[in-house]
Amino acid sequence: MPETATQLNNQIEIPIIENKRQPNYGDIHRTQLYLMDAIKFLDSLPQEPIFDLVVTSPPYNIGKEYEQQMPLSEYIKWQEKIIRKIYVRLKDTGSICWQVGNYVENGSITPLDIELSPVFKKLNMHLRNRIIWHFGHGLHNHNRFSGRYEVVMWYTKTDNYTFNLDEVRIPAKYPGKRSYRGENKGKLSGNPRGKNPEDVWDIPNVKGNHVEKTVHPCQFPVGLIERLVLSMTNEGDLVFDPFSGVASSGVAALLHNRIYWGCEIMDNYIQIGKQRLEETRSGIIKYRPYNKPIYDAKSSKLSQIPDEWKDGGDN
Ligand SMILES: C[S@@+](CC[C@H](N)C(=O)[O-])C[C@H]1O[C@@H](n2cnc3c(N)ncnc32)[C@H](O)[C@@H]1O
Repeated sequence: MPETATQLNNQIEIPIIENKRQPNYGDIHRTQLYLMDAIKFLDSLPQEPIFDLVVTSPPYNIGKEYEQQMPLSEYIKWQEKIIRKIYVRLKDTGSICWQVGNYVENGSITPLDIELSPVFKKLNMHLRNRIIWHFGHGLHNHNRFSGRYEVVMWYTKTDNYTFNLDEVRIPAKYPGKRSYRGENKGKLSGNPRGKNPEDVWDIPNVKGNHVEKTVHPCQFPVGLIERLVLSMTNEGDLVFDPFSGVASSGVAALLHNRIYWGCEIMDNYIQIGKQRLEETRSGIIKYRPYNKPIYDAKSSKLSQIPDEWKDGGDN
């Protein structure tokens, strides 16, 4: 019997269970990838609470290569079906993090977190944070402001949920600040471990020459999920992603000695995900850690105003 989660992760294999009617769900101590439709996979599991954290970015219904666009109402019904199946398999201490952007039609946006909120409300789940994930790169719009954020809806099943704030604290702005009145007057007022990372997170998205870029068009940055995994689970816990793509959430889970199950319908993404999980296990995965400071564009020569523009660009 392995003694620690680290040992567990060193021992596991990463089998790909292809379209089996009955996946090998019995072993919740093994990281596994399932080449399966999310609904079929969930239906194959017993209706028992096994997940500690379900974190995912579902298809946004915007016509990517892996999705068939459907009317918004149908899309929400489909998502509800999946969320309900997850809910019954989520532990009482568990969390669901549903990461979404906008559904866009004729240049008009529909934020999917607003549309999906009633689904979670009907289940009496508790919204703990609506985390704004801000990033610096994307399309340049001409008829509206360019979109530079997406949302992570963090829901818990009960009030007795796992939340390890100390694992994810960040350096305080003014660690030397002291209380100026009351019985703590003169004493340091902050926390030596740093401050709460708050609910607006600046993490570069995976575009162009990002170190994590694969062929997948919409990858999670590993750092986004690391912070969720560290704060909402403990070592050895089971993290599940029903739309796992190239297993970015799995990389975050394995980096921190959690068990991961991912479900995905595209074989090429499963293969890349498998390789990334193996690289993580071997300690050679390339990724951008969640606590790496954001690149300061001012350090690039390109941030200087070119001579041609110095007079307003009229020359
Ligand atoms: C937004 S992407 C998620 C990417 C993932 N977060 C990553 O970092 O790679 C959504 C994924 O869901 C997969 N998908 C679409 N329909 C699915 C279904 N019915 N069951 C399981 N996966 C599905 C797509 O192939 C796509 O890879």
